[in-house]
Amino acid sequence: MSDLAPSLLIAYGSQTGNAESISKHLHEEALARGYASTVTVLDDYEQVEQNHPNAVLVIVISTTGDGDFPDNTQKFFRWTRRGAKDKLAAAFNARKFAVLALGDTNYTNFCQTGKRIERRLIELGAVTFQPKGLADDATGLEAVIDPWVANMWSLLPSLVVCDQEKARRFADRAAAPTSSILKKQKLDDNKVEEKKDTATETPVAVIPPATTATAATTVSDPMDIDIPLHYTPYKFPISLTGVPTSSDQVTGAALLPTEYLSITPTQSTRSPLDSSKASLFHLFPNTPSSSTDPFTYTPSTLFASKIVGHRYLTGDKALKRVLEVTLDVKGLNWTVPAGAVVGIAAPNPDFVVLPLLKRLGIEAETVLDVKLGAGETGVGALPFVTDAPYTAYEAFRYFLDLNPPLRKPFLRIMAEYASDEAERAALLFLTSTAGAALFKSLKQANLSLADLFATFPSVTSLPLSRLLESLTRLQPRFYSISRINNALGTISIAFNIVEYTNPITQQPVVGLCSTWLESLVKGAGDMIVPLYPKPNVVFGPPADVETPMVLVAAGTGITPFLSFLQARAEAAAAAGKTPGETVLFHGRRFVEADRIYGSEIDAYVAAGVVTRFVEVQSREEGGFKYVQDAVLGEGNDVWRIVGEQKGSLFVCGGVEMARDVHAAVGKICGDAGRVEGGDVGVKNYLKALTAEGRYLKEIWS
Ligand SMILES: Cc1cc2nc3c(=O)[nH]c(=O)nc-3n(C[C@H](O)[C@H](O)[C@H](O)COP(=O)(O)OP(=O)(O)OC[C@H]3O[C@@H](n4cnc5c(N)ncnc54)[C@H](O)[C@@H]3O)c2cc1C
Ligand SMILES: Cc1cc2nc3c(=O)[nH]c(=O)nc-3n(C[C@H](O)[C@H](O)[C@H](O)COP(=O)(O)O)c2cc1C
Repeated sequence: MSDLAPSLLIAYGSQTGNAESISKHLHEEALARGYASTVTVLDDYEQVEQNHPNAVLVIVISTTGDGDFPDNTQKFFRWTRRGAKDKLAAAFNARKFAVLALGDTNYTNFCQTGKRIERRLIELGAVTFQPKGLADDATGLEAVIDPWVANMWSLLPSLVVCDQEKARRFADRAAAPTSSILKKQKLDDNKVEEKKDTATETPVAVIPPATTATAATTVSDPMDIDIPLHYTPYKFPISLTGVPTSSDQVTGAALLPTEYLSITPTQSTRSPLDSSKASLFHLFPNTPSSSTDPFTYTPSTLFASKIVGHRYLTGDKALKRVLEVTLDVKGLNWTVPAGAVVGIAAPNPDFVVLPLLKRLGIEAETVLDVKLGAGETGVGALPFVTDAPYTAYEAFRYFLDLNPPLRKPFLRIMAEYASDEAERAALLFLTSTAGAALFKSLKQANLSLADLFATFPSVTSLPLSRLLESLTRLQPRFYSISRINNALGTISIAFNIVEYTNPITQQPVVGLCSTWLESLVKGAGDMIVPLYPKPNVVFGPPADVETPMVLVAAGTGITPFLSFLQARAEAAAAAGKTPGETVLFHGRRFVEADRIYGSEIDAYVAAGVVTRFVEVQSREEGGFKYVQDAVLGEGNDVWRIVGEQKGSLFVCGGVEMARDVHAAVGKICGDAGRVEGGDVGVKNYLKALTAEGRYLKEIWS
């Protein structure tokens, strides 16, 4: 027994919230199972670990970019590589740990960060207590996560000290039929008692039955303004074949996650701020209006930039509009490098927020006091950290992702509050192993939160704390900077306006940030855009202007390359040099309508900065159809520049395009024995190019 670790430390790295949400739920379940558990973001690991020196470590980490670490793990990974040897030894030598990696097999470097972290910690003397899990978003994360987590729970009793009484109670509940745990038991008995005691004192927000609002109607919103409803929540038609109709018949449903937030609607109210005005920044009370270090601005300390110009880059015939927006960022005091990226924090639209608040029965103006429940640890578990308490409206509009991926713990919580027995059974079934196929079909439908409530209308008494525990933070969207004017302090970004029909539900869907930015330029407001510079961007042109390069882009993937060309032209002029050979491939649908930045590129061609411009149209007769076809067709030149002249290759755009270009480049390298060793030789060659910074991709989902 003396070998047992005193506690469990769960550390996550997450770009869009999945790993974060999984970690919080693991942490809560660990507490309920009787372990002393703490949850932290990986970047705070060094600090947090000092209070838990002998903890067993569980890392949940996603991969972003092209095999890159999420932003909130960069510091951690750097530290594991360059930190003081004695500190690293103290932190990791003989440490028992396991890694749950999240990724997507559509990307070339599947779960790369999880693999790298595991390798590095083993080098530092840490010891895995179970093999890493590699969960694939392309096929459904649960298929790997569920058995991996089940295995972890089975191993932990032999690794970590456990409160036996809590563990026994937990085991009893897990063994009990599902119906007997509904409405009766929480994972943590103590909390049931707490809840009973306070039930009559604390006002609890309740979801009334679903409204039958339609797209054309208006509702009287909580602020007594008529809000046009542009969004009709969609009721997903669940196939009930094989689904138990009573919760008694469901076996193996997930256990109810422990309640860990305490939310008290205070007596005070504050009128919601008008987001289209500068007053938005009252939400970020400590944000300076300018700084000498641009990287003091982060997702929670945003800079108030202002739109100073805009234009559409596509013609009438284009199927998707591309909007260029120019932003004043003088106050950042940032000498913007080529390839730089900004993160933009767009709010949820009022036509989603206000009806949702109404359905939840929450007054928009109510100031909420959001805290961890008594006895809870780990600020990592809070939905957002705040100095100033927010109103319900502000929390929903600015901080919560209202289109979260479907997650079993939330369905399990919804089951707890479903008053209709058939709905409750379906919700429980969805969390069970037998319900995996149904869960997958529901997940693929990408329902919004409002859709989910419409699908299960009898979920009528969900406390706000339960909802907030289940939601992750609204994530900023990234945009590559296309044009830079460091003298004026302006940057331009260009993006598709995302509008499409959900292929499963056939509902119209609009992208959050792109449509919000478009609404700003169409509206009459101040056009304030909250942003921050993304740190650690490595996607940039070679330092030497004479190094030849190949640039491959599809659609708006051209944006960072505009900044590459600008930087190269300026640097060559300053040095009195002729820029190195540059071949630019650009794929789009139509030759004229989609000629994004066409006149700028023509000017670079005329100036010799682009030595060859290969235009590829998928919807026109003749020529190559897709950019990967063109790259393959021009394989001799690509190899001459990259393989023989030691030039650089850059690829930017969507994940499928990057995958197909990667395959084309692999074929070019393997052809005619250019790279020896067959597929393995080519793979290693491309890996080495990437490590040298000579083959870099910026990939969007
Ligand atoms: C480093 C980086 C740089 C980027 N730079 C740029 C840039 O310069 N220009 C640019 O346009 N974008 C860029 N992006 C992408 C950008 O961040 C956003 O993802 C994009 O603008 C959509 O954001 P949104 O909020 O409007 O849409 P969201 O609300 O985030 O919705 C987008 C999601 O909708 C889904 N979707 C979209 N279209 C369809 C469809 N036809 N069928 C089914 N599902 C669909 C996809 O799941 C997609 O992820 C970049 C991304 C990264 C990571
Ligand atoms: C822009 C972007 C880039 C990605 N790059 C990779 C990648 O290189 N390799 C990989 O395995 N998964 C990649 N993914 C998939 C994510 O790792 C996966 O969706 C994961 O569930 C996200 O978890 P998070 O929300 O915690 O960040 C990428 C996803 C996005 C949106």
